[in-house]
Amino acid sequence: MTLGWAIVSTGRHPDTKMAPAINAAVGSTLAAVVSRDTGRAQAFADKHGAAAAYDNLDAMLADPAVDVVYVASPNALHREHTLKAAAAGKHVLVEKPMALTVEDCQSMIDACASAGVKLGVGFHLRTHPGHQRVRAMVGAGELGELSLTTANWGRGTRGQTKPPPRADLQAWWDDPAMVGAGAFMATGVHCADLMRYVLGHEVVQVTALSDATPDAPLEELLVMSLRFDDGSLGTVMTGRRTPDYQGNGVMVYGSEGKAGVHEGIGMVLDGTLDITTSGTETSESYANDPIALYTWQVDAMNAAVAGDGEPAASGVDGLRAAQITLAMVESARTGRRIDIQ
Ligand SMILES: NC(=O)c1ccc[n+]([C@@H]2O[C@H](COP(=O)([O-])OP(=O)(O)OC[C@H]3O[C@@H](n4cnc5c(N)ncnc54)[C@H](OP(=O)(O)O)[C@@H]3O)[C@@H](O)[C@H]2O)c1
Repeated sequence: MTLGWAIVSTGRHPDTKMAPAINAAVGSTLAAVVSRDTGRAQAFADKHGAAAAYDNLDAMLADPAVDVVYVASPNALHREHTLKAAAAGKHVLVEKPMALTVEDCQSMIDACASAGVKLGVGFHLRTHPGHQRVRAMVGAGELGELSLTTANWGRGTRGQTKPPPRADLQAWWDDPAMVGAGAFMATGVHCADLMRYVLGHEVVQVTALSDATPDAPLEELLVMSLRFDDGSLGTVMTGRRTPDYQGNGVMVYGSEGKAGVHEGIGMVLDGTLDITTSGTETSESYANDPIALYTWQVDAMNAAVAGDGEPAASGVDGLRAAQITLAMVESARTGRRIDIQ
């Protein structure tokens, strides 16, 4: 079975990662793309070999060649686009952050469930084989009693104290109502989801410090402390003010050793698995591949639609990430520790 995918919005991520991944995955073809602008839709379709180009979401959703809708619109529009796709009977892979509120996430979960369609969320780091190995070790208890998990995704440009404002099509990233939060929405949310994924535990407490101010509420740099439901602790650093940052990865420490991937957090398959326990010492590197993580994400979605397993990340995973995000924003604003129920 070959599934027809449609892409909503023609931004950088679908252009550089997801359209190539949909084309590279086994069992999917690019059936359509929709943009607000006919010319952009056609140019994208020509570049990536999409069968149809639309400037209207409803028209695209009426296309019988479309089985799966990949929502890559600005964050505040994810809910509306997901609900429309579900109502049209299409499966949905929605980009992170799933939505800006917990209620919106829940409405997307409910809509897809009642339409009988699959819902996946774009947390591609779950498909990294090193992260999957760490999750398996933790799940098997090989690290003993868990104590600390660290996850960092820092970036930046030398000579810049702050990234310059974006122009035109990317301007929504600078609009709090459209993006929801700053660096955490771009990169930190992946760290939080990855920690949940490798640990199999939920975040119950959050404290955060950021460089956000009332006049500039979108943080460019953030540090966060977490407590998980097993009592273990976590730290996250993320931001766009850390040029040449080294340490973009996840590491889990427990009473019997440590396991993680150095430089595995990013937008390419990369990094080195580092496992040290009394029984094992492993150091294994992954060949750099620009789209593998996204191709595997599409593979998982295709398999789920075909009845084999679930998407790499579910709607509930997207909702949990929204809870953590909102707790982070509130903690950074008030200076208080926020508990998540
Ligand atoms: N998982 C990952 O690794 C990853 C990486 C990057 C981004 N993302 C997520 O993917 C989504 C898209 O990110 P991106 O980097 O592709 O964004 P982007 O380059 O800024 O593109 C967003 C696109 O949305 C449309 N758009 C822009 N402003 C709009 C507005 N005001 N109203 C309606 N549509 C508007 C435009 O497409 P048209 O004009 O063609 O409609 C634009 O090209 C975001 O949710 C982001 O968080 C995920």
